[in-house]
This record gives sequence, C-alpha cells and structure tokens, in this order.
Amino acid sequence: MNTKTVVITGGTTGIGFACAKYLIDLGYKVVLTGRTQRNLDNALLKLGKNVIGYLSDTSNLSEIDTLVAQLKNTFGKIDGLFINAGIFKASSFEDTSESLFDETMSINFKGAFFTIQKFIPILTNPSSIVLNTSIVVFKTFADTAVYTASKAALESIAKVLNIELAPKGIRTNVVSPGVTESPIQKKSGMSDEAITNLLDHFSSTSPIGRIVQPNDIAPIVEFLISDKSLVLRNEKIIVDGGTTL
Ligand SMILES: NC(=O)c1ccc[n+]([C@@H]2O[C@H](COP(=O)([O-])OP(=O)(O)OC[C@H]3O[C@@H](n4cnc5c(N)ncnc54)[C@H](OP(=O)(O)O)[C@@H]3O)[C@@H](O)[C@H]2O)c1
Repeated sequence: MNTKTVVITGGTTGIGFACAKYLIDLGYKVVLTGRTQRNLDNALLKLGKNVIGYLSDTSNLSEIDTLVAQLKNTFGKIDGLFINAGIFKASSFEDTSESLFDETMSINFKGAFFTIQKFIPILTNPSSIVLNTSIVVFKTFADTAVYTASKAALESIAKVLNIELAPKGIRTNVVSPGVTESPIQKKSGMSDEAITNLLDHFSSTSPIGRIVQPNDIAPIVEFLISDKSLVLRNEKIIVDGGTTL
C-alpha cells in the first residue's frame, strides 16, 4: 500500500492533472494547486478521493508560505514535490515585452525556485523533487526565447539542489516533455491553425506516429517520485516520443 503524499503545482489541467490521476490510482495522496477556482473545482470533482487542492499562485511568495503552512497542518510532511506549474506564450525575441518576460520568469522560474526553497522544511527524508522543464532547453524553437530561458534556468538548479540538499535526503530529477497536447497551446496566443499545424507536424514526424499526451508523462513522473528512483540525481528523462532524435 502506497503511503506517500505528493504535491503537484499546477495540477488542475494537462500534464499535472494526468499525473495526479495516475498517482491517485496507485494509492498516493495528492495535493494539487492552481490559480483558477473553476479549474481546481473541476479537477477535484474528476479525481474524487485522496486528493485535496489549494488555490495558490506559484509566483506569489506569500501564497507559497500559506500553502506550506496549510500542508504542514494537514500532513506534517510531504514525500514528493512535482514542480509543474508553468505558462507558455508564443512571442518572437524582438516582440517579447518586459511584462511577458516578468510573467514567464515569475511563474516558470522564480515561483518554482521559491516553492522548492519554502517546501524544504516539510519534505521527508528521503523525498523527491521533480522539475518539469521542456525539450526547448536543448532543441531550438522560434518564438520561445523567454520560455526557453525560464526552463533552462529551472533545469540548471537541479544539480545545485542535489549537492546542497543531499544531507536532508532530498533528491531532484527532471522530466523534459516534448510537445504534448494540453490546454497550454490554446493559452499560448497561437492561432487555431498554428496549433493544428504544430500538433500535426509532431504527430507525422514522430517515431511513435502521434503527439505525446499528458498520460504519457505520468508514469515517468511517478517513477521519479517513487523509491524506484532513489539513487537517481539530476537525471533528465526526455518524454518526447523520439521527436528530438
Ligand atoms: N504541453 C507541452 O507541450 C509541454 C511541453 C514541455 C513542458 N511543458 C510544461 O508542463 C507544465 C504543465 O503544462 P501543461 O502542458 O500541462 O499546460 P496546462 O494544461 O496549461 O497546465 C498548466 C497548469 O499550471 C497552472 N498554473 C499556471 N500558472 C500558475 C501559477 N502562477 N500558479 C499556480 N498554478 C499555475 C495552471 O492552472 P490555472 O489554469 O489555474 O492557471 C494549470 O494547472 C508547464 O510547466 C509546461 O511548461 C508542457
């Protein structure tokens, strides 16, 4: 019987939601966060038992403090933290505004950074942190400059965490998804036609002959959260159906 409690930031839709469902089906207790009440309510309704959710904006440090205090009261300690909350808005380098720069970095990097920092006191020994980055870190896509920078920054701290947090039994690994069909595309500012072209391109050129789905990411995240990966440190698992080969 699984007794682990896992927190998924941004677990209300897409990859985070699929991971929540997968973990719950395996007996984990799951805590979800999100920014939007309606999405949180929908997710909790669909997931049923062994899950709770909090509205918590990962880019707001005092909301992270509140979340950690609530989790400490409810669970005491947490076994796994999936740093998943993130946004992508397509913009060329030349068109990237200061506000898009700040929004993307605040959620994808700064929020992730301080979530990890503030969770340290409530993580068990041993425990696992999984960072959701992206293939953009090593494969180039136009119109992703600030998103790429945010994910590269996040990925870069995994090795530092593995050295500094080793005495506390906290390990950090990375899941690096390829283009995955999720609500993120519709929120990106891309036209419907551009989204269809993107998904078609990755379906037709992928060795697996289809686009990656959030359900494809979930078992990999579970592996990295579970004791099956106890000796892994700074490992990056690319889940892209082979599109970057
Ligand atoms: N889909 C892909 O192709 C792909 C590829 C590589 C990596 N990723 C990464 O995977 C992660 C999940 O993306 P997804 O594709 O599953 O997209 P998604 O369906 O849009 O999920 C994003 C999740 O993050 C939450 N979120 C966004 N900003 C937040 C904030 N400030 N505070 C708390 N929660 C916040 C969203 O909640 P609200 O709806 O309430 O905002 C939602 O639950 C992201 O980090 C993304 O960069 C995605």
